[in-house]
Amino acid sequence: MRSSRYLFAAVLCAGITLAGQQNQQPVNTKVSETPAKTTPEPPAAAQARIARGREFLGLGPPPDQAAAARGQKTFAATCGFCHASDASGAEGPNLIRSALVLHDEKGELIGPFVRTGRPDRGMPAFPNLTDAQLYDIAEFLHQRVEDATNRFGYKIQNVVTGNAAAGKTYFARHCSECHSPAGDLAHIASKVEPADLQALFLYPSQTIGANGEKTTTPTQVVVTLPSGETVSGTLKRIDDFNLSLIDSSGAYHSWARSEVKIDIKDPLAGHRELLAGYSDADMHNILAYLETLK
Ligand code: HEC
Ligand code: HEC
Repeated sequence: MRSSRYLFAAVLCAGITLAGQQNQQPVNTKVSETPAKTTPEPPAAAQARIARGREFLGLGPPPDQAAAARGQKTFAATCGFCHASDASGAEGPNLIRSALVLHDEKGELIGPFVRTGRPDRGMPAFPNLTDAQLYDIAEFLHQRVEDATNRFGYKIQNVVTGNAAAGKTYFARHCSECHSPAGDLAHIASKVEPADLQALFLYPSQTIGANGEKTTTPTQVVVTLPSGETVSGTLKRIDDFNLSLIDSSGAYHSWARSEVKIDIKDPLAGHRELLAGYSDADMHNILAYLETLK
C-alpha cells in the first residue's frame, strides 16, 4: 500500500506537469463541451468501478463524506487564506498534490503536522484544533484528492459527446507505442459495452480475448540465475520464498527467491502514468475514438 501510494504521488505530479505542458500547445481540435448526457447505470456497477479505480491507484479507504463536509468549513475558515479554500494552493502549497496528504489515511499524519506546523517556513502551528476537527480536515483533503484525480465516480458519457478525431490524435501520441487500432484493439468496440470499454482503457486489469472472454493480464518476469543466465516468462506464482514462471515454450520453472535475482515488469505502468494526466475531455475523446473500432 505504502509504496504504491508513493508511486501514485509521483505519477500524479508527472501527470500534472504533462497536462500543464499540453495546455501550452495550440489547440486545433474542437472539443465538444455539450453538457454530458448520461446513460443510466446501476449504482452497483458504478460502485464497483470506483472500487477498482481506488485499488488500481493504491489509494486508502474512501473518504468519510460527512466528515469531509464539516472539514470543508473549518478548512476554508482556518487554512483557506494560505492554501485556497479548495486546497489548490495560494501562498501556501497545493495540498491535493501533497505527498503528506496522499500518504495519510485518517489524519494520523496531517493531524500532528498541523498541530506543530513548520513556523520557520511559513506554516503556522494550530495547537488548539481538536482531534475531531483535524480528522474532518483530513477527510476534506482526501475528498479533494478524489475529486481532482479520480474520475471513477464519473458517469459514462453518451459517447457522441466526445470528439473521435481528437481522440484519434491523442491515441497516436500516447497509446500507439503499445496498441494498434488494426491489431490488438481491432473491433474492441464490438466486443464490449461502452462502460466496460471505458473501464478497460482507464485501468485495465483484464484483457478481452478474441471471443469476448475476460482474462487477467499476465505479469512478465525476468529471473537471473547465479550463473548469469536469464530466464523470462509469465509469472505463475510468487510468495515469500519461491517463484515460478512459464516460459515462451510453455515450460514450467521454479526457484527459491533467495537464489536468484528477480525483475518483475509491471505491464500496466504505462496506464498508471496516463491515468493521472487525462483531462475529462481527453477521456471522452478517447472513448469516442475507441467506439469507432467496431
Ligand atoms: C499563514 C499561511 C498558512 C496557513 C494559515 C496554513 N498553512 Fe499550511 N502551509 C503553509 C506553508 C507556507 C506551507 C509549506 C511549508 C513548507 O514549505 O514546508 C504549508 C504546508 C502545509 C502542509 C504540508 C504540505 C506538504 O506536503 O509538505 C499541510 C498538510 C498544511 N500546510 C495544512 C494546513 C492546514 C490543514 C491548515 C489549516 C488548519 C493550514 N495548513 C494553514 C502556510 C499556511
Ligand atoms: C506502455 C504501454 C501502454 C500504453 C502507452 C497504453 N497501453 Fe493500453 N494496455 C497496455 C497493456 C500492457 C494492457 C494489458 C492488456 C494487454 O496486455 O494487451 C493494456 C490494455 C488496454 C486495453 C484493454 C485491451 C484489451 O484487449 O482488453 C485498452 C482498451 C487500452 N489498453 C487502451 C489504451 C489507450 C486508449 C491508451 C492511450 C490513452 C493506452 N492503452 C496506452 C499497455 C499500454
